[in-house]
Amino acid sequence: MFGFIFSKFSKDLGVDLGTANTLIYTKSGGVTINEPSYVAVNMRNGQLLAVGHEAKAMLGKTPPHVVVTRPLKRGIIADFEVTEKMLRYFFERVHRDRSIFLPRPRVVIGVPLDVTEVERKAVGDAVLAAGAHEVHIVEEPVAAAIGVGLPISDPVGNLIIDIGGGTTEIAVISLNGVVTAKSIPIAGDEMNRNIVQYARDVFNLLLGEGVAEDVKILAGSAVALKDQIDVPMRGRDLLSGLPREIIVSDGQIRESLARSVKAIVENIKSILEITPPELVADIYRRGIILTGGGSLLRGLDQAIADGTGLNIKVAEDPLSAVARGTGLLLEDKKLLKDVAMPMSDRMI
Ligand SMILES: Nc1ncnc2c1ncn2[C@@H]1O[C@H](COP(=O)(O)OP(=O)(O)OP(=O)(O)O)[C@@H](O)[C@H]1O
Ligand SMILES: [Mg+2]
Repeated sequence: MFGFIFSKFSKDLGVDLGTANTLIYTKSGGVTINEPSYVAVNMRNGQLLAVGHEAKAMLGKTPPHVVVTRPLKRGIIADFEVTEKMLRYFFERVHRDRSIFLPRPRVVIGVPLDVTEVERKAVGDAVLAAGAHEVHIVEEPVAAAIGVGLPISDPVGNLIIDIGGGTTEIAVISLNGVVTAKSIPIAGDEMNRNIVQYARDVFNLLLGEGVAEDVKILAGSAVALKDQIDVPMRGRDLLSGLPREIIVSDGQIRESLARSVKAIVENIKSILEITPPELVADIYRRGIILTGGGSLLRGLDQAIADGTGLNIKVAEDPLSAVARGTGLLLEDKKLLKDVAMPMSDRMI
């Protein structure tokens, strides 16, 4: 009886705890939370000042006693306490619209490939500490593949590439399992660092992280564009110490990002080289799907197509693929049992 009432009102949650963005999916609302993974803390009293968009907007603009942190680095929890606080805040926000008592949620959450058992356990513990009563952990590319509707349970090779903030995850999936895969720490954050480095080397201009990201999104590209894009880039002149604005073209930004684009393409090729031939034949026929915010870089699909000779498709709404996949797994107990990582058995 109570079980029925609880399941009727319970809000099970699909969570994409990303280096750059955290998304939470609920059955009734779809993607309900979509916020940057940033937290602002008052160091004088340990109080949480802001989370998500509000905290990201404070980046580089805080007085000394306020610290804006990103609790995840390369998809892995770097600060357990802050991650737990951030998750708790988001879980409570999902439930805020309900006045009645709600049971603690069941959570499906993604982790990058190649995480150690200790890192995986930290994710599970953070979710439980934030208020969940049950947690299931899945590999992010598997969740992304489910989120975009790839037939991962079939005996066919699905090549999915999730280019996030912290990592690029390349995975060949067949029969609900990852056959060959690689996770590299070259993704959106590294591209931002490439632009910061370029501005420093070429213009003696010191850029903030946020400015570099804006420039990347406004003018970044992996291949030559039809129409030139010029954007202002504002920072501090390293020689005079004064504020300065420079107009940069898409060609200059492309030059700064070339190293990262090349590394992504080369790593995809190296995965294809070690993938069994039957699966490579499927991938040749079916192409590659890109997810994650990094896949929105202009022409990245073209650069990967040129490098591999394969058809590339950027998923619809690539930023929410992992969250949608975890949400679908909440509804499909059998598939969840097949794809969940073994450690989740010990957590429930
Ligand atoms: N239009 C765009 N062009 C280029 N990059 C973009 C664009 N939009 C978003 N990004 C980048 O995508 C990244 C965030 O993607 P996403 O939310 O998928 O990462 P994440 O899941 O938080 O990270 P990870 O999976 O590595 O833990 C950021 O680095 C952001 O700058
Ligand atoms: Mg991600």
